[in-house]
Amino acid sequence: MEVIVTPAPESAALAATHAVLSGLPAGRGGVLGLATGSSPLGLYAELAAAVAAGRVDFSDAKGFALDEYVGLPAEHPQSYRQVLIREVCAVIGLPLAGLNVPDGTGATQAELEAGAAAYDAAIGAAGGVDVQILGIGANGHVGFNEPGSSLSSRTRLKRLTARTRQDNARFFDHDGDVPTHCITQGLGTVLDARRLVLIATGAAKAAAIAAAVEGPLTASCPGSILQWHADAVVVLDEAAAAGLA
Ligand code: F6R
Repeated sequence: MEVIVTPAPESAALAATHAVLSGLPAGRGGVLGLATGSSPLGLYAELAAAVAAGRVDFSDAKGFALDEYVGLPAEHPQSYRQVLIREVCAVIGLPLAGLNVPDGTGATQAELEAGAAAYDAAIGAAGGVDVQILGIGANGHVGFNEPGSSLSSRTRLKRLTARTRQDNARFFDHDGDVPTHCITQGLGTVLDARRLVLIATGAAKAAAIAAAVEGPLTASCPGSILQWHADAVVVLDEAAAAGLA
């Protein structure tokens, strides 16, 4: 694992952008794994700058979301499909036709589980993910893989923890509107990507980063899977790196 510590969130975004671009195949669009959340927003802005400068072109690329809520219509503004359309497709020029998001609209558990399996198959059919962009939760979660998630898990239906529902309530009109379940790429699915680039900034992430980078490889800290990956890059600002030895 390569750990890059930079002075500030802006420099972290720049370093993470370099790690993403150097992991993409030259001459074709590539397959990007896409995280939502605040951590990668600066990285997406820097990717947009790279597009504007003619250094990369995502018009032929594919994107695979890390996760999606269950029970929100695909056009709901807080569905991760819509968030990614606004925060990634519109920003870096990834075509909507190239955006893949787990299907959280199934009416039954069987339909949702079939959709999750189809998602892993679609990643495989695209040739696998070249670079998976990741954030990390303050409790070490990756995607919606909360502590205790199996290290070999595949894309699957999960119940959201009370803490995660509380954290995400700010995006909804009423607390009760926050979905109770999600479909998330599994930790095994994430590990299949050829490169992982995790970006974390701010003091609130320092403990999770210390556990993920220097603690044991354990399901208690899903972020620690990066230690197991042959090409993982962790990009931090000084505040997020403050717990490292
Ligand atoms: C995003 C995701 C989450 C976030 C994590 C950090 O698709 O699945 O694991 O990466 O919760 O969120 P932020 O970046 O908002 O602190």
